[in-house]
Amino acid sequence: MKCRKCGGAAVINMRQHKLALCAEDYLAWLPEQVQRSIEKYEMFSPADKVLVAVSGGKDSLGLWDILARLGYQADGLYIGLGIHGGFGYSDQSRALSQAFAGARGLKLHIVEVEAAYGATIPELAVISNRGHGRPCSVCGLNKRYIMNRVAHDGGYTALVTGHNLDDEVAVLMQNTLNWAGGYLARQAPVLAATRPGLARKAKPLCRIYEREMAAYAIVRGIDYIYDECPHAVGSTTLYYKELLNQLEEKRPGAKLQFYLSFLQAKEAGLFSAAASEPDLHACQRCGQPTTAPGECSFCRLWDKVRAVKGLPTRLPASMLQPHVETEP
Ligand code: AMP
Ligand code: FES
Ligand code: ZN
Repeated sequence: MKCRKCGGAAVINMRQHKLALCAEDYLAWLPEQVQRSIEKYEMFSPADKVLVAVSGGKDSLGLWDILARLGYQADGLYIGLGIHGGFGYSDQSRALSQAFAGARGLKLHIVEVEAAYGATIPELAVISNRGHGRPCSVCGLNKRYIMNRVAHDGGYTALVTGHNLDDEVAVLMQNTLNWAGGYLARQAPVLAATRPGLARKAKPLCRIYEREMAAYAIVRGIDYIYDECPHAVGSTTLYYKELLNQLEEKRPGAKLQFYLSFLQAKEAGLFSAAASEPDLHACQRCGQPTTAPGECSFCRLWDKVRAVKGLPTRLPASMLQPHVETEP
């Protein structure tokens, strides 16, 4: 297989784009695609202070690398979840994120959930008895809260995650199978900061296939964690990803088409009836935006868990700030 641009040996063949490229041309091509999405969906500009949430995986580290190469001011945030299964998942992902930042002289904020709030995510899931034995829902709640908080406290104007096309399409499929109108109306490449205290959120990899990110990380020599979170094994999302891969195998480009036509349908107003701005107000404890009356679900969750663990509850507001370590 030859590179379409220079005729050299191709390292990747993207059937969905009818395009094969050599290492050098691929390393130039992918950031151009990401830049196009950033511009098309008006995610952020070089004047923005960007916070990239990094998990130590290929998508988020690859994204951070691309944003730095494109000249954006992008700092990282790693959240230590205290997941010790799967060969020390959290320790490994933290070490890889730190090594990545250290080697490039990039600034990485680190929040360890246990050190900041008093329990690991798996412990939190067991004690709170949420999510039917899976920590994923409390994990998501904590990650979203901490990301918003660090973005807001650090004066970041955009918060970006490494969600790729495969992630977005799996969610889209789930939402479509359930005709979850509200979720469909809110699923977007960029979410404006509609309330004070909420950072603008963007997914610059929303049109990039997972396989393209894996190839980028390998060709670029980025050391990343190969394993999924051990709690993701057997999840519905992974099941949908497998189904979608079968579809893609038969019809190259099917995932991208599904996603782009969804965005077009939304643009045309197909989900506007379901689009309602949630009624947000400040949590009485921590001040973060919430839909819950009174205190937000993060504050209530931690109150309950700290009480069970015999830790003082009713923390003063300042203690609710995550403990942030900054490197370098
Ligand atoms: P996931 O939900 O694991 O597929 O992750 C989606 C995105 O969330 C990643 O690409 C990261 O941008 C972000 N993310 C996931 N886990 C973490 C973490 N432990 N710390 C910071 N960001 C994370
Ligand atoms: Fe949060 Fe798996 S439970 S990453
Ligand atoms: Zn709160």
